Amino acid sequence: MAPRTILYTGKGGVGKTSVAAATARRCAAAGLETIVVSTDPAHSLADALETPLGAQPSAVTDRLWAQQVGAQEEMERNWSAVQDWMGELLVARGVDRISAQELTVPPGLDELFSLLAIKRHHDEERFDVVIVDCAPTGETLRLLSFPDVARWWLEKVFPQRGPLLAAARPIARAMLDVSLPGEEVFDDVGRLVENLIAMNEILRDNQRASVRLVMTPDRMVIDEARRTFTYLNLYGYLTDAVVVNRVFPAQVDAYFGAWRERQQHHLEDVRDAFGPVPVLCAPYFDEEVVGPAMLDRLGDAVFADVDAAALLHHHLTQELVVGADDARLRLDLPFARKGEVSLTKIGLELIVGVDGHKRTLMLPPALTDYQPSGASLDDGALHVTFDAPARARARAR
Ligand SMILES: Nc1ncnc2c1ncn2[C@@H]1O[C@H](COP(=O)(O)OP(=O)(O)OP(=O)(O)O)[C@@H](O)[C@H]1O
Ligand SMILES: [Mg+2]
Repeated sequence: MAPRTILYTGKGGVGKTSVAAATARRCAAAGLETIVVSTDPAHSLADALETPLGAQPSAVTDRLWAQQVGAQEEMERNWSAVQDWMGELLVARGVDRISAQELTVPPGLDELFSLLAIKRHHDEERFDVVIVDCAPTGETLRLLSFPDVARWWLEKVFPQRGPLLAAARPIARAMLDVSLPGEEVFDDVGRLVENLIAMNEILRDNQRASVRLVMTPDRMVIDEARRTFTYLNLYGYLTDAVVVNRVFPAQVDAYFGAWRERQQHHLEDVRDAFGPVPVLCAPYFDEEVVGPAMLDRLGDAVFADVDAAALLHHHLTQELVVGADDARLRLDLPFARKGEVSLTKIGLELIVGVDGHKRTLMLPPALTDYQPSGASLDDGALHVTFDAPARARARAR
């Protein structure tokens, strides 16, 4: 059977690696064959587990494996033809060799190749659970969200490449002074596109795969997580839990008292922004989370009331359809009954009030100039309509 896949993402330094490793230990202890995969070139997963790791899975304890994917290695395996061709093109144009080398790798691509390890584990079916410690902000997941564009390339552009290229090659050489890419370049790109489509399918399988957002109870960290949450929803990736890490416990002394109070307010904001997705918390410990004992302490706190491997929430909490004249948003509000609905849009933030509950939501930048025009409650969900800028102006007149 295909493995349960859990991706951890969040801003830098919030505790992704610690929580991923803690989750992995807990899953293995519960009897599941588990692997935790890190794509971070800094060896923090190895540090947290106190085990040296390599590019191939290595055994950590009973049923627990860990792997530090080497982005460079993956790049060499998957992208060398493109790099060679583009590199020569750039060098011929006077770019020095080292810069050319850098320029042949679009930002995020190395991380993307690292994520292909997920697909390999999926195909092998050796593990019950695959846990991924992702790069900050989940930018890369965004790259995976264009399977339709990718499919179009694959179906429309690629089959034509033979005759097209044959015709273009002499012209390109004579007029443009460039050499067109050879077959191997197209093979690399074609394979990447196929892999992207496969990865997208794996990660959008809402029965088996989910993302967990890790954050600390700090304003800027929460705001970034909210933006990530919005586009994860929009692209169809299920967020099944948020983890608020490093919450000051009640017994902190007076020195941190005011800060703790602020954290408690921020925790309320987290519930308003991510509910009904479960919010799991872990305290700020009195020492670093390094080694099995501390990882298990963290795991005990985060998963005190829930099963670490389970799917903790089952459906997307937001859906957005943007048309030419308007946009429609569906927002889960399972506890709301028929009542007064209030909507306020400030910039890209939408604040929804229903029956004394508040939900806040970061809208995607595409909706900057849209104005909310109506809202209704139905089947535990709120449906909001927005007017596109032209229609909003006409209405205002
Ligand atoms: N609840 C906690 N209490 C105390 N220290 C913690 C806690 N959680 C994590 N830490 C410590 O905070 C540091 C950062 O944690 P971690 O490496 O897990 O974050 P990260 O999100 O993976 O960072 P990066 O973005 O750099 O990969 C580590 O030293 C870790 O041991
Ligand atoms: Mg990390």
